[in-house]
Amino acid sequence: MATEGKKIAVVTGANSGMGKATVAALADRGYTVVMLCRNKARGEAALEELQMIKNRDIHLMSCDLGHMDDIRRFTDEFKVSYPRVDVLVNNAGVVSLDRRITYDGYEEQFGVNHLGHFLLTLRLLDKMVQGSRIIVVASGAHKVGKIHFDDINLKKGFHAIKAYGQSKLANVLFTRELALRVKARGITVNCCHPGAVATSMGVDRITGFGSSVTGILKNIFLSPEEGAKTAIYLATGSEGGKVTGKYFYRCQISATSKAAKSRSQAKQLFELSEKLTEEYLPL
Ligand SMILES: NC(=O)c1ccc[n+]([C@@H]2O[C@H](COP(=O)([O-])OP(=O)(O)OC[C@H]3O[C@@H](n4cnc5c(N)ncnc54)[C@H](OP(=O)(O)O)[C@@H]3O)[C@@H](O)[C@H]2O)c1
Repeated sequence: MATEGKKIAVVTGANSGMGKATVAALADRGYTVVMLCRNKARGEAALEELQMIKNRDIHLMSCDLGHMDDIRRFTDEFKVSYPRVDVLVNNAGVVSLDRRITYDGYEEQFGVNHLGHFLLTLRLLDKMVQGSRIIVVASGAHKVGKIHFDDINLKKGFHAIKAYGQSKLANVLFTRELALRVKARGITVNCCHPGAVATSMGVDRITGFGSSVTGILKNIFLSPEEGAKTAIYLATGSEGGKVTGKYFYRCQISATSKAAKSRSQAKQLFELSEKLTEEYLPL
């Protein structure tokens, strides 16, 4: 339950990397923060660590963004316990060298990075008010991405960069299209590129494969706290309450790829996502 009068933030992928850093920063700024995590043990371990600093109002809820019924269950339970969403940070993400599929049968990067967040966001919209903010953690990798409308699950010629790029371009197109559709309600929607950040991205959660690479990159890449700065800026700074539909890098509006500027692709992706999730937003 949220403490009366406090702003409420939901952060996805909150147990690791930039998600965890975002939770800490928002809690320290006085937000009630709901951590959305897919794995109970990893979520509880992160919560325990985050609560070592006193007076942080942080709550943990489980949800697998690759499982649409679980997203529906999460949003139903959330709405019973919390009156509003002031800030939603769609941060969770996966990158995978192999073609994996979600519970619902979608290519995992498209399914989790875009489709799961699409469903989550649309189902939380009725808890958003004038001034609520949606922040999508996209990536500069959207610039190598293309939406394969003829093969959205990349059954033909899967490649990790192709899949990750598609999912991150989908993040930017979703941001632009949703921003237009919720503007009249006073909700802002922006996305960001965090930079190259040493997190657990790409590390196999079961075998730990890839963690030594992350260890080496720590010295060159940004820390999760540094990487989370732009998302936190959009969630809490005055610009994030005024500007909408933009892509930010280093806390500034930044250029996107040509494909990310296409209204027709943004609309087509939005309509496809509505069909695939069976969740519709009236124009
Ligand atoms: N690191 C970079 O250099 C970089 C650059 C550009 C953009 N980004 C973006 O930044 C965001 C945060 O990533 P990060 O670098 O902080 O990586 P991270 O440490 O690997 O964190 C990713 C988070 O997403 C969660 N997640 C994965 N699949 C999920 C699912 N099906 N349901 C719910 N949660 C799920 C993970 O949960 P588990 O721990 O349980 O797996 C984890 O909490 C991602 O969107 C990523 O694409 C990262």
